[in-house]
Amino acid sequence: MTDNAKLSIGDKSLEYPVLKGTVGPEVVDIRKFYGQSGRFTYDPGFTSTASCESKITYIDGDQGVLLHRGYPIEQLSEESSFMEVAYLLLHGELPNPDQHDDFVRTITRHTMVHEQLAMFYRGFRRDAHPMAIMCGVVGALSAFYHDSTDIDDPAQRMIASHRLIAKMPTIAAMAYKYAVGQPFLHPDNSLSYTGNFLRMTFGVPAEPYEVNPVVEKALDRIFILHADHEQNASTSTVRLAGSSGANPFACIAAGIACLWGPAHGGANEAALNMLREIGRPERIPEYIARAKDKNDPFRLMGFGHRVYKNYDPRATVMQKTVREVLGALGVDDPVFEVALRLEELALSDDYFAEKKLFPNVDFYSGIILSAIGFPTTMFTVLFALARTVGWVAQWNEMIEDPEQKIGRPRQLYTGATARDYIPLDKR
Ligand code: SDX
Repeated sequence: MTDNAKLSIGDKSLEYPVLKGTVGPEVVDIRKFYGQSGRFTYDPGFTSTASCESKITYIDGDQGVLLHRGYPIEQLSEESSFMEVAYLLLHGELPNPDQHDDFVRTITRHTMVHEQLAMFYRGFRRDAHPMAIMCGVVGALSAFYHDSTDIDDPAQRMIASHRLIAKMPTIAAMAYKYAVGQPFLHPDNSLSYTGNFLRMTFGVPAEPYEVNPVVEKALDRIFILHADHEQNASTSTVRLAGSSGANPFACIAAGIACLWGPAHGGANEAALNMLREIGRPERIPEYIARAKDKNDPFRLMGFGHRVYKNYDPRATVMQKTVREVLGALGVDDPVFEVALRLEELALSDDYFAEKKLFPNVDFYSGIILSAIGFPTTMFTVLFALARTVGWVAQWNEMIEDPEQKIGRPRQLYTGATARDYIPLDKR
């Protein structure tokens, strides 16, 4: 146990316990700080703040380590499946064969959505961004599943978790079908979770759809790479929404909204658009110069991370998967060469080295998704589909945490002090 943290402020000497985890930085427990000092701590963006205790995911940003319930992402993405990782994140252990089969059977049986939910899509323009549709339709699930919104009932929490994991592929595929003007396909539960999603997305009623095993494996691996990531912005959003007792469907819809931002999950769409805009390796220096220019808001999308100050281990796996998928599909996408060259030039530039900016999970993913046939507007939808597993695991952990209470940060107020109202005719 580390000695207490000592802080002298004004005429007070205060001490706070230091809490130690199983691995990673210790934390200073400052819950009594305001009561004892009359002051708040100040940490915009929560760069030095632990919002909760968790057992789900551990990241060592300096070493580029990512563990899910202790298992390295490199091993899970190579050996496991998205359904197995979903079980691991939710329950804390890898399933035995019976547990695995039961879980897959349960998820499979929840893949259909209420037929009335299909009516929601009709309200959107055909060119609506699919993430706008996801925010609306997932939030609307609250209106259909009143039998699984009592968050104090563990059984209802697990049903809602299963429903969310199972229905996200169906809802996402429907968003794509609506955009391209093709009919919705119902789930085919003889297929795998990822194969079912591929068929609902790219299949048509007019002919049978054969799932390409290379694509199925690559997409399943991409889902694993996006499943969870500690207390990132969208997971923190889900936890904060859940801390008020909001139902899980509303909380996940809040997470989807947050993930959409280009600084977060929206970066995969922005990164491919950027690589396409660059177009040729000869144009890379111009963009690197812009990224370094303080007066230019442009940033290299898919580069940098709040936690990783080393290579994002997911990006390593993603780059390897690009080679596999492009090779298997016989796709020669010049954008991949641009991405590889951009990475090489950026990582040899002092600006990126000093600021420890490396490719993150979003830098290469779009190249694979594009090769599979997804439009860029669907990239963040796929991120949300996969991250739903992490969101519901973190949401359950928060609800079960005896120390959790409604999240309610304070502020440093720099606005006007009290003043009297002036009637309009006196102003
Ligand atoms: C995800 O949190 C997670 O875990 C997220 C995620 C997950 O799985 O949930 O990993 C998924 O969101 C990955 C990140 C995707 N976003 C992008 O690729 C967008 C581009 N990257 C950034 O905008 C930025 O790097 C962030 C948002 C990811 C991190 O920002 P921070 O931690 O707040 O760092 P910062 O903005 O303060 O940047 C530090 C410095 C700044 O320079 P100075 O002001 O110190 O001089 O680095 C510079 C920034 O200008 N910088 C970049 C840059 N990213 C940071 N400069 C050029 N290009 C970039 N991409």
